[in-house]
Amino acid sequence: MAMDLLRTLGLSVPLFQAGMGGVAAPALVAAVADAGAGGIIGLYKHSPAEIEVLIRQTTALTGQGFGINLVPEVVDEATLADQAKAILAAENKPFVTFYGLAPASICRLVRESGRPLLVQVGTPEEARAAVERGTDAVIVQGSEAGGHHLGTLPLADLIEATRRACPGTPIVVAGGIATGGAFAELAARGAVAALCGTLFVCARESAAHPEFKARVAAARGTDTVVSDLFEIGWPGRPHRVLRNRVTENGRTLPRQFIGSTRLFDRHYPIPRYSAAVPTIHTTGRIDEMALYCGLSCRDIEGVAPAAELVARFDRQARAAGFGPS
Ligand SMILES: Cc1cc2nc3c(=O)[nH]c(=O)nc-3n(C[C@H](O)[C@H](O)[C@H](O)COP(=O)(O)O)c2cc1C
Repeated sequence: MAMDLLRTLGLSVPLFQAGMGGVAAPALVAAVADAGAGGIIGLYKHSPAEIEVLIRQTTALTGQGFGINLVPEVVDEATLADQAKAILAAENKPFVTFYGLAPASICRLVRESGRPLLVQVGTPEEARAAVERGTDAVIVQGSEAGGHHLGTLPLADLIEATRRACPGTPIVVAGGIATGGAFAELAARGAVAALCGTLFVCARESAAHPEFKARVAAARGTDTVVSDLFEIGWPGRPHRVLRNRVTENGRTLPRQFIGSTRLFDRHYPIPRYSAAVPTIHTTGRIDEMALYCGLSCRDIEGVAPAAELVARFDRQARAAGFGPS
């Protein structure tokens, strides 16, 4: 089962780079795909035309396959359907991932296209529902994860409960993993691959702002906190971030603009408490923005090329006993 999923996706390393809006742009995705792991473009409220451009740019950089991530809960169903159709129209057939359950009609659209579908979930019940909607694999997100949280269980508990709820479904683990050794421990409990976000924030090719990368590289797990403060643009979901002036002061600071960012040729002001992650296109008070970061930061030593991160992960996983099954 494990090797089937990896083989279907053309991966030689049991690792996915999380689709992180703004951070996982074509340069990172292509570098990860070239290294044999699963690169995934991160989308947010992108239009079909923008999605087409990102796919074209990524395809120009790599001959390997890659995936695209959509976040169903930040758009309405019609917009999500348009986004999905833009992905399914791409000639190079990217695989599709959803962050959280998508409506059954959209899952059906993906299934009928024949593209592999992976759904990230935070509870065994959600995993079961994703399987019923036809997902090829579930990505289970533990509470160790950086970014928004789909559930509250730590990964070790979640994987056990998901195995019981979804027998036979490949399980990809996410949250707090930055080494092949950490993954191998979870592989022994049934995981077929890991999905890492924070690790790839610190890839040389990631579009994260350099100050953000430096803070993640220097952080320990205790420097992160689960908060619900960065809610503008993505309300109602707790998220793990680096501690900063905003998390220390709660909702007491003025709701003013603290920077701006560019997406394609449009500029957007960034208010304090925005969910927007600081990228290479962002200026302003980077240290007060949403610096999403998992407990995995404890194992990150610095910024390195994506190919090196993937090769190191693979070596560590093999050294810890992970092998083809
Ligand atoms: C900077 C950052 C941004 C993220 N953005 C997204 C996103 O846009 N969509 C998504 O599905 N997951 C996003 N995630 C969460 C990942 O999918 C994944 O659950 C998480 O990174 C796993 O934990 P880790 O960061 O310890 O590896 C993000 C994570 C980080 C660190």
